[in-house]
Amino acid sequence: MCGIIGYAGTKRVDKVLISGLKKLEYRGYDSAGLAFITNDNNLEIIKSVGKISKLEEKVNKSNIQFGNVGIGHTRWATHGIPNEINAHPHTSGKVSIVHNGIIENYTNIKEELQSKGVTFYSDTDTEVACAYINYIYETEKDKIKCIQKACKHFRGSYAFGIIFEDDKDSIFVTRRDSPLIIGISDGENFVSSDVSAFLSYTKKYILLDHNEFAKVSSNSVLIYNDNGDLLNKEINIATWSDTQYEKNGYEHFMLKEIYEEPLVLKNIFNRYLNDISYLKDVDLSIYNNIHIVACGSAMHAGLVGRYLFETYANIPVTVDVASEYRYKNQIITDQTLVIIVSQSGETADTLAALRVAKSKGATVLAIVNVLGSTITREANIVIYTYAGPEIAVATTKGYTSQVAILATLAFEISRKHLTLDEKNKIISEMNNIQNILNYVLLKIEEYKDIAKSIYKKEHLFFIGRGIDYSMCMEGSLKLKEISYMHSEAYPAGELKHGTISLIENKTPIIAIATNKNLYEKTISNIKETKARGAFVIFITNEELDTTGDFYDIKLVLPTSTDFLQSLSVVTALQLISYYTAKERKCDIDKPKNLAKSVTVE
Ligand code: G6P
Repeated sequence: MCGIIGYAGTKRVDKVLISGLKKLEYRGYDSAGLAFITNDNNLEIIKSVGKISKLEEKVNKSNIQFGNVGIGHTRWATHGIPNEINAHPHTSGKVSIVHNGIIENYTNIKEELQSKGVTFYSDTDTEVACAYINYIYETEKDKIKCIQKACKHFRGSYAFGIIFEDDKDSIFVTRRDSPLIIGISDGENFVSSDVSAFLSYTKKYILLDHNEFAKVSSNSVLIYNDNGDLLNKEINIATWSDTQYEKNGYEHFMLKEIYEEPLVLKNIFNRYLNDISYLKDVDLSIYNNIHIVACGSAMHAGLVGRYLFETYANIPVTVDVASEYRYKNQIITDQTLVIIVSQSGETADTLAALRVAKSKGATVLAIVNVLGSTITREANIVIYTYAGPEIAVATTKGYTSQVAILATLAFEISRKHLTLDEKNKIISEMNNIQNILNYVLLKIEEYKDIAKSIYKKEHLFFIGRGIDYSMCMEGSLKLKEISYMHSEAYPAGELKHGTISLIENKTPIIAIATNKNLYEKTISNIKETKARGAFVIFITNEELDTTGDFYDIKLVLPTSTDFLQSLSVVTALQLISYYTAKERKCDIDKPKNLAKSVTVE
């Protein structure tokens, strides 16, 4: 989703802003732009629709004498189509602005300003915010106070990067809900939606909190609270390095991130299996019900968690998508544990769900990848996945690392119900996860063959029962996201209640059967589809491997306990999606219409 970069220093501003925008590309966008001060002290704007490379071309062709202060933006369209007029930065009077978020009451403000004679050119809420700040600036010449006054009028979420025509040395920033970080260096400072945009220049950063306001110049960063008090904020050091944002020889970030999974998961189990200090003295046994709340793949990780908590710890669990949970009647008691799952830690709906749960008195445990993200700052307990930066829009190591943490937690809560043998088996598998996944990665040719068998189809179904069904959900989403094939996941036993009418000659079905107790039942359901002409890709594990005439292609994966089986199956499904999208010549790392970090509702 929208990305912000800002720079005040001594380097040529266009170079720093373009390199920052390239790092923010992964968030998802459809247009981009820059506003900067030129060497002869003019404020200039350059925008373009499409890739950053097009903006860069425009910048390179211009004869402008670029200065050293400016702001840049990647826009993911919300209000108005992706065109140059709607692209950021927007300008009104003396103010230029870039924005991430949504100003919900922009229509009223627009009418108010129109009645005062202000003309608007774009369809965006951002231009309205810009015009409003400019309007306040006519009477309030203190820039921080002006922005504060304007923000009091805005409803919704925002991170703003602002430059004023009459202050050629500074960028002004503030945020409410949408992320914004300030990068600190000697003689130059940065602002950005995430650290990736300035990591090649500095690792030092300050996290701006809600309703804080900053004036960022080359030699100073002044941060104020809502009352105008000057704050002394902590400087953090980023642990992620710039090279982690490179493909390092892989054709796509998605492939690189899949190949990182064995090590990421090994590290998770090493770190958390025998050390529960991360729970900060919270006794998990006091909770008799759990709500898992998340979006997208993180919600699918929650489904695996639900299966494990219910099956092994005997605790009732609900799993909700955050956009639904936040508006329903959440039934929370003092024995409810709310588990929030989010790779980015910034997803707007997930953050709102966290706040609702907290306001109702729940203890909130968050499973998050991005250090210092907003969700980590608001949850009661945080468990980091430490998966490293994930750049491909479709999550891979993000998902498996969330499952690994949930499996560790479920194991911890279930210990008293498990026999010594069961415990030893799970621990030994957790310790061996790197080898298990490396073995799954060896089957590349099989994944490519499966991809070749399905890539020309437009419709596909995933079926499975129990925990296999939750793997189907994630496999199906992955395929949709990056290959644009229509795919649906169904509980195998439910297909006959309607959807089986869609099965025709050669309709592809990916059927997953790794669960011993449900295996026979799933095979019966697969046979029902085969009898109607389906082309069946059968995925099972070594223990249950069988031959028969109910499948066309068989993929046999290593056998694991329920706690870990989804890790190897979903890794295989990620690779099947990857090679299918490749056959279909899709833009794998940046699928159309999708954003990595969804910071609007
Ligand atoms: C977006 C991404 C998905 C992700 C979801 C939740 O839709 O494209 O891959 O699963 O957001 O993101 P989060 O950062 O909260 O895990």
